[in-house]
Amino acid sequence: MLKFSKDFQIGAAISAIQTEGAGLTKKGDTIFEMQYKKKKAEFFEGIGPNITSDFMRNYKTDLKMLSEIKLTSLRTSFSWARLYPDGKNLDNEAVKYYHNYLDECIKNNIIPHMCLFHFDMPAWASELGGWSSEVVIESFIKYADFIFSEYGAKVKYFTTFNEPLNPIVGGFLGDGFEPYVNDPRLAIQQAYGMILAHAKVVEIFREKNYHKDSKIGIVFDWNYTYPFSESENDKYSAKIFDAYINKGPLKILAQGVIDDFLVDSLKKYQMLPKYTKSEIEIIKKVKVDFLGINYYFPKRAAYVECNNPRFEMDNVTQKIPADAIMNVHRGWEIYPQALYDIGLALKNEFQNIPWYIGECGMGVQNEDLYRDKNGMINDDYRIDFLEKHLEQIKRVIDMGSNCFGFHVWAAIDCWSFRNAYKNRYGLIEVNLKNQERRFKKSAYWYKKLIENRS
Ligand code: BG6
Repeated sequence: MLKFSKDFQIGAAISAIQTEGAGLTKKGDTIFEMQYKKKKAEFFEGIGPNITSDFMRNYKTDLKMLSEIKLTSLRTSFSWARLYPDGKNLDNEAVKYYHNYLDECIKNNIIPHMCLFHFDMPAWASELGGWSSEVVIESFIKYADFIFSEYGAKVKYFTTFNEPLNPIVGGFLGDGFEPYVNDPRLAIQQAYGMILAHAKVVEIFREKNYHKDSKIGIVFDWNYTYPFSESENDKYSAKIFDAYINKGPLKILAQGVIDDFLVDSLKKYQMLPKYTKSEIEIIKKVKVDFLGINYYFPKRAAYVECNNPRFEMDNVTQKIPADAIMNVHRGWEIYPQALYDIGLALKNEFQNIPWYIGECGMGVQNEDLYRDKNGMINDDYRIDFLEKHLEQIKRVIDMGSNCFGFHVWAAIDCWSFRNAYKNRYGLIEVNLKNQERRFKKSAYWYKKLIENRS
């Protein structure tokens, strides 16, 4: 079995919006409740964000189960819409809940990794224009400041955003999320506002320095990009994709470095966002302490003709090789080698910044089919997936990359955006009829992996 060092964190991830549901305290609507009210049919089997895995009723027993399999750490998020249901006033019951939750983690020897924003834009904030609104950014900073001062003694690892571009691409360049527009200019302005919000939050974290041991980072989804073919067009497409979606934004968010290639590409189509010099100064000062990397599949960028490109990304598409190994349930290519490439890039191009895997996992439909006679889901496919990805992590650590942990998505089956409970990811199964929990086979394998550290 793979062997990691004793201090290597082996944990799991979930998020507030995907596990808490409406929960037990007041909560303002997010874009997902908005979407559900308008377009229920878009969610798999019509299941919305109202109950999810009912974590607020179950977190004590859930954390207990996670401690039984010796999980070192749990990555999840605070809910902005729960702490500030109307966007302005703090809800004391919610404040208490997160204290209780963190206390329970500590009691179970589970390190909490807490994110401020996991896709869950409050509805009021979305209506004001999301990250293009100064009011929204200022409210986010107030919320972040509260979190750092209130919970800093219990949380060592804070992150600002989870996969920050994902909801922007989904909401402003496609039809996945609210507000369902497809306009690169608006998308770029949103991305700029998000970057500014992140930079201002990091700045306030440093200035206030409430708890000296706490660290600040960001969780970024790096679908490592390769050119689909050796053609010059495909290579250029990969470079563009990298500049807009991967390394370009990651360099800004992690180290405040703005890539000239990206700026020049934006200028070609007069696509630079509105900005001020003083904002750019704040952005350039950013230096996070660590990175969380989410990885599920690689992106193979290919050139595509477009009659009327609005920006250079309109000439980029994704292709999957005919012989790729696939997770057919999700339609995602399985390519563990990318984790090695990511680890080396972080070592060589990001000054060997400390990093961990924030999410990696395999979503499978109809897991019932794999139930054994004792009722346990025998998810050998998940064990195989995790083992192959962890092998690459081990390999890149041996090459000197500064990786300090791995979080499987997910600790327990979670609700997902639009897909609801179609693809299950958990080490722990959730029975949606009665909210009963049960370990899958992978949980026991994971426990052995954790115990095997030395
Ligand atoms: C990541 C997200 O993109 O992928 C998670 O951070 C999400 O929130 C996970 O659940 C798996 O994707 P999906 O769409 O299958 O749930």
